[in-house]
Amino acid sequence: MTSTATRPRGARARAAIAAKTLRTDRWWFAPLITVIGLSAWVAYATVRVFMHKWYWVEQYHYLTPFYSPCVTDRCVEGASHFGQFLPGWWIIPDAALTLPFLLLFRLTCYYYRKAYYRSFWLSPPACAVPDKHDSYSGETRFPLLGQNLHRYFFYAAAIISLINTWDAVLAFHSPEGFGFGLGNIVLLVNVVMLWAYTISCHSCRHIIGGRLKHFSKHPVRYKAWTGVSWLNVRHMQLAWITLGTLALTDFYVMAVAAGWFNDLRFIN
Ligand code: FES
Repeated sequence: MTSTATRPRGARARAAIAAKTLRTDRWWFAPLITVIGLSAWVAYATVRVFMHKWYWVEQYHYLTPFYSPCVTDRCVEGASHFGQFLPGWWIIPDAALTLPFLLLFRLTCYYYRKAYYRSFWLSPPACAVPDKHDSYSGETRFPLLGQNLHRYFFYAAAIISLINTWDAVLAFHSPEGFGFGLGNIVLLVNVVMLWAYTISCHSCRHIIGGRLKHFSKHPVRYKAWTGVSWLNVRHMQLAWITLGTLALTDFYVMAVAAGWFNDLRFIN
């Protein structure tokens, strides 16, 4: 159902103001930065995902999150912790098992929805700046109705964070056995931030305790909900920080794998 603004009977008419908005600040700045930031990240990720190389450092077992887990028969064996069951066609990402879920997790995220509805769809571009569309149906129709599936992508993302954690643990490796280098710090920081972003999810907050009526009857869930709420306040920042740590981690692994620079080693 398309809804348009209608004036309730008896209400006064709106003031006749010709200007589209009376805002004089740079209200367009935030949407512009969002378009530039998200477009740049998507361009980088797309190039990397379809590059099909420089994702694994054999010597130290560094694996970029963009290729985790590597499940096509083109993958380097050490990078495939869960087998190789897909054909290595160019169009199939090597991490085809996880990337679609991560994409849907971020696409249906409450924060990103706000970001792209405003900056790409201009609905509205900013507070007190008119919508660029004649009609508005919100999220009442397909495909936007699908945004309600976010909690299922949250479950998938939590499992994928476990896989990323396992990758970070396996990366404490060197030809001598145990190893510790700058790459380990990069991978670890990324995993910690990914967990922080995942746990700060609005669906997580709801599942953990947000839907309860009597906190006094659920002290443990209340405590957990308090912690998640603290993180949830920072969800926007975590959404951007994790885009940064993901790209940085991928770039570091690519650079070491390609031999552009050596990993800084602390032990072995
Ligand atoms: S609301 Fe952003 S990840 Fe769930």
